[in-house]
This record gives sequence, structure tokens and C-alpha cells, in this order.
Amino acid sequence: MNLCHTLGITKPIIQAPMAGVQNWELAVAVSEAGGLGSIPCGMLTKEQILSEVNNFRDRSEKPYNLNFFCHVMPAIDHQALKTWEQTLKKYYDSLSVNPPEKISGLRVPFDSSVADILEPYKPPVMSFHFGLPPADLVARIKSWGTVVVSSATTKDEGIWLQENGADVVIAQGSEAGGHRAMFMTSDPSTQVSTSELLACLKKALSVPIVAAGGIAASSDIKALLKQGASGVQIGTSYLLCDEAKTSDIHRDAIKSKNSTTALTNIFSGRLARGISNELMRDLNYISDKAPEFPYASITLAPLRAKAESQNQADFSPLWAGTNRSGCREISATKLTHDLWAGCL
Ligand SMILES: Cc1cc2nc3c(=O)[nH]c(=O)nc-3n(C[C@H](O)[C@H](O)[C@H](O)COP(=O)(O)O)c2cc1C
Repeated sequence: MNLCHTLGITKPIIQAPMAGVQNWELAVAVSEAGGLGSIPCGMLTKEQILSEVNNFRDRSEKPYNLNFFCHVMPAIDHQALKTWEQTLKKYYDSLSVNPPEKISGLRVPFDSSVADILEPYKPPVMSFHFGLPPADLVARIKSWGTVVVSSATTKDEGIWLQENGADVVIAQGSEAGGHRAMFMTSDPSTQVSTSELLACLKKALSVPIVAAGGIAASSDIKALLKQGASGVQIGTSYLLCDEAKTSDIHRDAIKSKNSTTALTNIFSGRLARGISNELMRDLNYISDKAPEFPYASITLAPLRAKAESQNQADFSPLWAGTNRSGCREISATKLTHDLWAGCL
């Protein structure tokens, strides 16, 4: 099945949903260019989700993708939070801040109450990170005619997603910025490059596969389409675009010639790729003291807020992929047109 036909788009380019750095504006800019704009909903309240959808629909009649997390929410482990707090104590002291008094602002998984508010809209596309929602919810979403998309990082995850209702599978290679979509393993050594993962999923799946991770130029898109991808999903290259809400410290880190990226679990409890900063280096990138996702971020919040107020990026997750050469300070509409024009 042709991906453009399935998604109702004219260019096989999906703008990756990127929670915390973009809203409907980036999505409109990409959808209007003929790609698929995505709205990250994983950190939004129900009211905010509806506001995002309405803002998109007020400005564009093109298809859009709503993205959600679908992890299983673990019970709060107060002991693990205390241990994490002790690990971070020296930073609290140096920045003169206190640990948070209550747990708030957590990433919560998609559930039936969110499906209730979205049902009248019947979103054209919905994508998920960390697997898929429970089977009854997937069936309900599909009954609206919505195309269901999710990311795989291994062959087994791809097969599971296809068997459990994904209409399109994203092959998220290890170059990708942001959280690894891993949901059947937490072992970093299982993670392979975009091209390697695409080759292995092509042999195992019959649904369309979208390649993601490290795509920064038309030549990257061309090579992956030639290798059998039905389309591409691009995140990092959109981070400097006019319509992105990327913070100034994040933009500066992306533009820095000396920056490098690494996988870390310290900002949320799950593996994610971001630009290396002081906290990542100091805690050796992957810490067994970080509480389970999504709780690790709570304890860090006061440090991040204080450091950012002083224009420091040392405690912020600076999510970005390995390839930042395609980041341009132009409209995302133009970037999408340019990327595709170079493929023709
Ligand atoms: C800043 C940032 C935030 C991200 N947030 C999300 C998210 O909320 N949901 C999601 O499914 N993927 C998220 N991702 C991962 C992307 O979906 C995608 O896998 C990745 O951007 C592709 O690699 P690239 O960044 O090298 O283009 C994020 C990536 C970045 C760079």
C-alpha cells in the first residue's frame, strides 16, 4: 500500500512529533507543504490537546498526526525517588534549590478518556511511542478510520506492532533524537542504525515502513526510499525552523560546532538521545539510580528551571539526533519542499 495514499499526503515525509519543542504551528507548516505534520500530545492536558487540534484545523484542511506515549505507568517508588534525590543533592546545593514537594507534570499514557474527547474529531493519523495502547483502544481508534502508527527499534518490536494493529511501522534507528521507542527491551546493545533496522524490518513485515533517525538531506531520503522505506520521519532537522518552539539554549546547543550526542536515561528514566551536557557527563550518561520512567524527570525539574533561568543548559534534556547538519533557520514549509525537491 502506498504510504502517501494511506496518509493522504503528497510527499512521503512525516515531521516527527517532538514533545516540548513544538506545537500545531510546526505541524501546519509541514502539512501545508504536502508532508504529514505531527502534534505531540504526550505532555498535554485534555484541554491543551483539543486546543492544539482546533488550532490546526482552523488553519489547515490537510491531514495531521496526533502522537501519544503508551507506556505502562509504574506505581510510584518513593524509595527510588529518595535515592535519586540524594544522588542529585550536590546539584541542589550548588544551585540553592530544594527538591520538589509534589509529583506533577508527568508524562502519562494514552487512555480511554483521551479517546473520548478525540472521537468526534476522528483524527486522520495517530502515532504512539513505546508500543501501542491496549487492544480495545486500538480497535476503537481504527473504527474511526484513523491510521495507527508506532515506532519499532528492533525486529521483534516491529513484528509485535504489525500483529497488534499498527498500519504503518516507523523504523527508529539509533541515530534518532529523543526517546528510544523501545518497549520489549531496555538493552542499549539491541539498538541498530536506521539503515540496518530498515533492512531487517523489510524482510519481516508487510505493512509500510517509515525510516527515522539521522535524516538530514535529500540524499538521505533518496537512499532510504531506494532501500525500501515507504517514507521518512524527520525530527532534528526541523528543530531550528521558524515554527518550532525550541528554546534558545537548545538552539544554541544544536548550532554549536563542538556538540556531540549520547544516549542517556537520567532525564526521564528511559533511554533517549540528546546533546551531551554537564549532568549527563557527570552521571556517566546511564545511571541505575534514575527512577523508572517517567518519574526521574520530576526530581530534576527544580534544577532545570533554575539553570535555565540563568541561561545554562547543564540540567536540560537537549534532545537531538546524531545528524544536525540539516538544521536550518527557515520555515518548515520551505524545508519540507527543499528536502523533497532534492529527491526528484
Ligand atoms: C526534541 C525531540 C523530541 C522528541 N519527542 C518525541 C515525542 O514526543 N514522541 C515521539 O514519538 N517521538 C519523539 N521524538 C523522536 C522522533 O519521533 C524521531 O524518532 C526522531 O526525531 C527521528 O530522528 P532524528 O531526530 O534524527 O530526525 C523526539 C525527537 C526529538 C529530537
